[in-house]
Amino acid sequence: MTTLLITGGAGYIGSHNVKFLRAKGYEIVVLDDLSRGFADAVTDATFINGNIGDAALLDRLFSAHRIDAVLNFASFIQVGESVQHPSSYYLNNVGNTLVLLDAMVRHDVTKLVFSSSAAIFGNPEYSPIDEAHPKAPINPYGRSKWIVEQLLQDYDAAYGLHSVCLRYFNAAGADPEALLGERHEPETHLVPLVLQAASGRREHITVFGTDYPTEDGTCIRDYIHVEDLAQAHWQALRYLDAHRRSAAFNLGNGNGYSIRQVIDTVRSVTGRDFRVEFGPRRAGDPSVLVADSRLARQELGWTPQYGALDDIVRHAWAWERKHWQ
Ligand code: UFG
Repeated sequence: MTTLLITGGAGYIGSHNVKFLRAKGYEIVVLDDLSRGFADAVTDATFINGNIGDAALLDRLFSAHRIDAVLNFASFIQVGESVQHPSSYYLNNVGNTLVLLDAMVRHDVTKLVFSSSAAIFGNPEYSPIDEAHPKAPINPYGRSKWIVEQLLQDYDAAYGLHSVCLRYFNAAGADPEALLGERHEPETHLVPLVLQAASGRREHITVFGTDYPTEDGTCIRDYIHVEDLAQAHWQALRYLDAHRRSAAFNLGNGNGYSIRQVIDTVRSVTGRDFRVEFGPRRAGDPSVLVADSRLARQELGWTPQYGALDDIVRHAWAWERKHWQ
């Protein structure tokens, strides 16, 4: 039985991966300090409460478990917070990740799947965004991810640590069985916020900016189902087994939806109406972010199952109703 270490396995994308990969037959050890995640989101895994920056803990963990590969989801993800507190973003997302990588090298664990982000690209120079697009992050969060991607190249060359960097566009949706869902404290992401307005947990949703150079004036994003992301991680593990070399892939559907379209979809899927307010732009939001994921399809054999926003919203709504109503 192959054992994986999943850091940040109590968080949104991490916990969905734990469930998906467990169903594929892997043994799983989760390392999460619960600073952002929730212990009850960890299903069927050995859970260790701790931080990826704790070298002594990592030494004990890698000695006690024969880890074949690591998936690193443990990081801070809020763009706005990263602008306010760059130090904690660099300490956690870069510094602590380095401690994890060095522990992997010490214990001869040579495979890593790293959670990267569309934020490494900054303001798009063209759309859709392929892997060759210039990397010009415009905030500390994006820079922290790009720094790690670059140092992973050095770790491959020097130590033979092979990695697949997966650059998520807008992760959304929930486990189709509604056992897990999107949960952040505080919540800042559009899809869960609109659903909370639909369920009555929130009084209204505010649209950040209506004067963008898009058809309806609101920002366009490429929403990708969290289950499809999990499929990509599984394929990334198989890629590392087959090729023993590093790579990076952009993960999105290639379809852009505006904020107004997201709100309309939530209205039609839930059959509920709610108040929508229109506010100013949020700082640092590019107008359009859409992925070109042809490389992931070709190289990983990735075939997203949930291309339509309806599916993403339907699953997220099922979880919202089951757990919060
Ligand atoms: N939005 C609103 N109202 C809200 C919340 C969001 O109008 O209450 C808008 C945002 O301004 C943006 C869009 O909805 O235009 C999507 O916003 P999210 O916060 O859901 O997602 P982002 O596109 O800002 O961020 C996502 C990830 C980040 C990652 C980024 C990559 O959550 O971790 O994509 O660009 F860095």
